[in-house]
Formats: sequence, structure tokens, C-alpha cells
Amino acid sequence: MNDLEDFHEDILGKAMRGLGIGKNELSSRLNVEKSYIEKILAGGVNDGLISAIAKELDLASEKLLRSARKEWCPAPLAINGLKQLNLPFGEMLVNAFVAWDENSKKAWLFDTGPMAEPILDFLNQESLTVDSIFLTHTHRDHIACLDELRKGSNTPPVYVHELEALDGCESITECFSYSCGSLSLNTLHTHGHALGGMTYVIDGLDSPVAIVGDAIFAGSMGGGMVSYEDALRTNREKIMTLPDDTVLCPGHGPLTTVGEEKKNNPFFPEFC
Ligand SMILES: [Fe+2]
Repeated sequence: MNDLEDFHEDILGKAMRGLGIGKNELSSRLNVEKSYIEKILAGGVNDGLISAIAKELDLASEKLLRSARKEWCPAPLAINGLKQLNLPFGEMLVNAFVAWDENSKKAWLFDTGPMAEPILDFLNQESLTVDSIFLTHTHRDHIACLDELRKGSNTPPVYVHELEALDGCESITECFSYSCGSLSLNTLHTHGHALGGMTYVIDGLDSPVAIVGDAIFAGSMGGGMVSYEDALRTNREKIMTLPDDTVLCPGHGPLTTVGEEKKNNPFFPEFC
């Protein structure tokens, strides 16, 4: 099982940057010395102060405390016809996913990760041919080996949101739909972390599955690199409204479900 991508200090940092609230501001709002805030942001745990900061940042304090105490990780999920490849990119790990139709052995790739070889090996081992490649966004860690992967899999079409158009790729928008054998997918424009952030909702596997890129992580989210407000809003409107049993496949960290995120993701205090 992968480790969670973020713990409380990462979540607080993303919320502070997103809301434009710095350490000095928090210190004066809460009437505590800045050094206490800094300790929390360095990974320290102080229940009372974490709860107080959570309220200032519109985060769910109980969920944030569970993150600080490392009490929760989503239950491991295994879906037939879906493979997560968790690959190193510098000091981080990034996910690429393969989904396939068992009868035709045609596969879709979602993001490329940083290295083609493990993905091509997996395709070979399962006798899969690549029908299409879909990109959740074009941050380097998600597309690093696109050319190599494409060449190694008979140059299938590559789909990406039009706001992050790439040479030689097909530009698509929200509500793009596509099918291959028993699988079908639909797109949601989940922007905020990236301008052209795309979620691919797949039907035809054992459970509904959504490949979400960095829009949302188990117990966190990618952060609002373009717009924190949009990231929160598009997650709320488009991902958290999917059925609770939808398996979410994030760009970093473990698989989770919409139901698990409602219970455990501090960015969504509206769900208990
Ligand atoms: Fe990203």
C-alpha cells in the first residue's frame, strides 16, 4: 500500500497558501506566538492548536487531527482490469494507471509517470495493446515519458484538455466521451490545481472508477496551484458528488473512494 501523499503540515500549508493567510496572520488571529505555529507546520502535533488553526482555514478539525496522528489510511483496493504503477520521479512517487477490457485486451493509459519501461513491461506481461493515452494534466511528473511510451505502444492517440494542448495530442474538453469494448469514459474539467485538470470517469470495471490526477488525494488534494478556490469548488461539485463507492485514482498516493474522502478529507468540512 502507498503511503499517504500529505499529512497535516502539508494540508495546512496548502490551505494557508490558497487563502493567502501567512504564519504572522495566524499567530495574531489566534493570539499565539509564531513559533508555535511554525512547530505545527514542521509536523508537530498539538491538538488544541491544530483544531484552532483548522477553524481559521475552513478545514475539518477532527479529520485534520486524524491526519496529524496518522490514524487513517484508505483500505487497500484492488479492481480487476485496473493497474496502478507507482513510480519514482526524483524524490517523489507518481502514479500512472492502466485500465483494460479483458475480452479485447485493449488498454487505456492514464498519465505516463516518469518512466516507460515498467508500464511497457506490464502491458507486455498482460498481452495488452494500447488503444489511447489520456492525460490528467501536463505537469512534468505526469507526462515525463510520453514520447517514449507512445513510441513503445504503436503511437496511439493522446488526449489532453484543450487548455493544456500539446503538439501531436488531441485536445478535448469536459463531457468528452469515449468507449472501447466494455469500457466507457466521460470527462470532468476539475481545474484549480492545473488549468486543464481533467478527471476521467470510467464505467465497465467492477466499481465505478475516476482517474483524478492531482485534483484530489487520499486525505488531501493537489492544491490550488492555479486557483485554490476553483480546486475546492470543482472537487466539491464534480468529484465529491460521484457515488460514494467510486474508486478515486489520484496522481500521488493510494487509491481511495468518494465515501472515504467524505469521512476523512480535511478540505471538506461539510461532510462528517
Ligand atoms: Fe500536478
